[in-house]
Parts: sequence; C-alpha cells; structure tokens
Amino acid sequence: MKGQREVYIKQLTAGYPGKPGIIRQLTTRPLQPGMITALAGPNAAGKSTLLKSITGLIPAHGEIIMDQKNILAFPVLKRAKLISYMPQYLPFDISLSVVESLVASLKASPLDQISTKLPEVKKRAFDLLEEMDIMHLATEPINNLSGGQRQLVSLAQAIIREPEILLLDEPTSALDLHYQVAVMKWVKQYARRGKIILIVLHDINMALRWADEAILLHNGKVYRHDKPGAVFTKEAIREVYHVDADIESTGSGHLQVIVKDQPFD
Ligand SMILES: Nc1ncnc2c1ncn2[C@@H]1O[C@H](COP(=O)(O)OP(=O)(O)O)[C@@H](O)[C@H]1O
Ligand SMILES: [Mg+2]
Repeated sequence: MKGQREVYIKQLTAGYPGKPGIIRQLTTRPLQPGMITALAGPNAAGKSTLLKSITGLIPAHGEIIMDQKNILAFPVLKRAKLISYMPQYLPFDISLSVVESLVASLKASPLDQISTKLPEVKKRAFDLLEEMDIMHLATEPINNLSGGQRQLVSLAQAIIREPEILLLDEPTSALDLHYQVAVMKWVKQYARRGKIILIVLHDINMALRWADEAILLHNGKVYRHDKPGAVFTKEAIREVYHVDADIESTGSGHLQVIVKDQPFD
C-alpha cells in the first residue's frame, strides 16, 4: 500500500483576508495510507486552518500531492469525492432528521460506485448508523441532539462517502468516554482499510494512545512530525505549551503525559 497513495503537503501557505500567513510554507512528511496522523498544537496554532485549506474551504498556495497530482488544483467536486472533512464547530439549526442528513450528504456528491437510488442510499445510511451504534438517533431532528450526539452524526456525515482522505477536527471533544473510545476504534478500523486520516486531537494523551504518527504545529509551522512518542517529549511540551510535564509509560505500555505541579499550585 505504500508509495502511490501517500499524500505530501509541500510548502503550503494559507490564511484569511487580512491574515494571510496563518499557515506558512508548511511541509510534512508523507501521510501514509492505513495510518492515523494526529495534528496537535496549542490554541490558534493553525490546526483548523490547515484542515480547511486541505479541504478547499479556504484558498491555499503550495502543493498537496497524491498520485503525482496536485489536489489543490482539482475542481471542487473532484476534491469533494476524495476528501471528507468534519469541522470543529458544527452548524446549528438543521431541521433534517439524522438519516435525512446522511442521505443529503451522499447525494450532494455521489460517488461513481455508489448508486443514488433512494432505497439504496437509505440502506447505506441505516447500516452506518448501526455500525456506529447510534441507530436510536435515526429519526431525531438534528436540532434536538446534544453536542456529543451531533458530533457523532457529523462524523457519520463525513464518512458515509468513504473518502480516501478523512480530515477530522477534534471529533471527540464533546464525547463521553464510551463514545470517545468507540469513535477512535472506528477511525482506526477505517484507517486500516488503506485510508489517510488526519485528525486534530487537542488531548495529547489521546494522540499518544491512538495515533500512528503525530504532527505538532507551532506558530503555523511543523514543530515536529514523527511517531507520537518522539513528538510529545517533555522538551517539546515545555517549549510549545509552556508546561512542565513528565512522560510516563502506563501498565499497558502506552505513553502518557503527566503535568507536574506548577509553581502556583
Ligand atoms: N475565519 C477566520 N478569519 C480570520 N482569522 C481566523 C479565522 N479562523 C481562524 N482565524 C485565526 O487563525 C489563527 C489560527 O486559528 P485556527 O486554525 O482555528 O487554530 P487552532 O485550530 O489551531 O486552534 C487564529 O489566530 C485565529 O484567530
Ligand atoms: Mg481548531
């Protein structure tokens, strides 16, 4: 699976009107199919901006190469077939039911291999809800859902089209422990089907527990891109987050960040 489907981000620059260089000349190591890459960094480091620029929501300069082609130059629909994006802030005021919203997501940019006949599309939506253990939400209007339930539905909307590249912006921030684990297991399974996953996780321990690789962003640049254990060192945490911490191994062999008593404690 290596080689062909890797994604290279090269010299990417993106920002907003009046704030052009939020991401500046950013280059990563190749993002590998089958792997979860965590994107971490302090507030306002540019994590969401990076995802938005990859998905095409904001303009960007530079290159994102897959199969020797620059995704940034793809027309909107072609890019939407390849990439799905789950935003950090979910839109409010959606009167559709959960299953209707999934059908709408599928029909918005139908994939070649997926029929657009309504019964088949509906079956696919119900199958996914079943798989994600949220069938009980199927007929609820999205407006009535809790923050965590909305987050699960938003994830379902992102994955129903089975994108090659899945971008998730803090998908577990509103979830209880059960669904945090369920979502991360699900994302891992999805990755293992040869998909490329870039996931913003602001909880470093989640990144250490679940990610295969991590990118630590600092001031719009890659501070370090490596295996999570090599990225989240005490030195990196001190320099980037200004916090003194120890990195310890848990009983099950995972690394964990333990914040030390701070002077004001
Ligand atoms: N729509 C926007 N317009 C202008 N500036 C923005 C917008 N969204 C984010 N920014 C700015 O870009 C910087 C990076 O934001 P963001 O990418 O959301 O950070 P992160 O996701 O790492 O917390 C921040 O300084 C933020 O104020
Ligand atoms: Mg963000």
